[in-house]
Amino acid sequence: RDDITLLAIESSCDETSAAIIKNGKILNNIVASQLIHENYGGVVPELASRAHQQDIVRVVNEALTEAGVSATDLQAIAFTRGPGLLGSLLVGTSFAKAMALGLNIPLIEVNHMQAHVLAHFIDDPKPSFPFLCLTVSGGHTQLVIVKSPLEMEVVGETADDAVGEAFDKAAKMLGLGYPGGPKIDKLAAQGNPDAFPFPLSEMPELKFSFSGIKTSLLYFIRDKGEDFVKENMADICASYQSTLIKMLINKLKKAAKIHKIKEIAIAGGVSANKGLRKALEAEAEKQRWKIFIPDFQYCTDNAGMIAMAAHFQFMAGNFVDQSVSPMPRMRM
Ligand code: KG4
Ligand code: ZN
Repeated sequence: RDDITLLAIESSCDETSAAIIKNGKILNNIVASQLIHENYGGVVPELASRAHQQDIVRVVNEALTEAGVSATDLQAIAFTRGPGLLGSLLVGTSFAKAMALGLNIPLIEVNHMQAHVLAHFIDDPKPSFPFLCLTVSGGHTQLVIVKSPLEMEVVGETADDAVGEAFDKAAKMLGLGYPGGPKIDKLAAQGNPDAFPFPLSEMPELKFSFSGIKTSLLYFIRDKGEDFVKENMADICASYQSTLIKMLINKLKKAAKIHKIKEIAIAGGVSANKGLRKALEAEAEKQRWKIFIPDFQYCTDNAGMIAMAAHFQFMAGNFVDQSVSPMPRMRM
């Protein structure tokens, strides 16, 4: 039993996921995405928690079986404590607690936003400390200075919506369905990013704001009419997306300059965006940044990143007891 083998569970939103990590190496990353929300144009919390409940046993079993690990090989069980939807978090938390109790092994809590950042330690090359990470997801937009695996400081955040929301809400307004990010990404690749002007937000310092551009799209759709929108969908997506990306890259540049950091990473669901990945590469050439972009499977929600974070917590001896409960608004 010298190996450090951990099971990690992610259930903060609409992905039920389990992963096994052995001595700091990810063995697998099983993700069950909940398709039911597509019918509602967004995540319905009550349906999300029910789907987690239905999927979690199968997903955990699959992770163990595929890795050839039996439950008695596990040294600890990790789970996402927050931030996220309470009902969704409750399923993963309760499952992890029960399993750890049954096996008489310790529990590790993981902060979902920290885990997005730590996804960069799954594959090579790995960033060195301190580095700057732009974490962009459905619920967050953060500029984070990462001083060590478990020491992170948020130096910039959004004043209103997250950038993932700006993608999702735009897709909904354009009639593209949910989740909007990947759909806009795909259409944007075929459109002209300079076709239509959308406003860049003028927030001070390292603050983001995405409510203005969202409203301007709403007015654009109202003024131009349905037919025009349908005929120009790719150009609208390309223009809207490129404005969002400009806002992200501008603040990233500012943060890198203020904090004098040249190792730059992106993380979270929106870091899967092809336009953002390309824009970051182009900016890196200009600024002489060393950049880090996660593999697609570790951008959107997954237990692999929870397992990576759990490994660091295990090494640091950070465990929690059975009285732990989910924290929907957990901070970094
Ligand atoms: O990290 P994530 O899976 O869940 C949260 O922690 O929120 O991020 C989900 C967000 C959604 O808003 C989704 O539309 C967005 O990431 N997203 C994308 C892309 N893939 C996922 N946004 C833009 N382009 C993509 N390719
Ligand atoms: Zn996430």
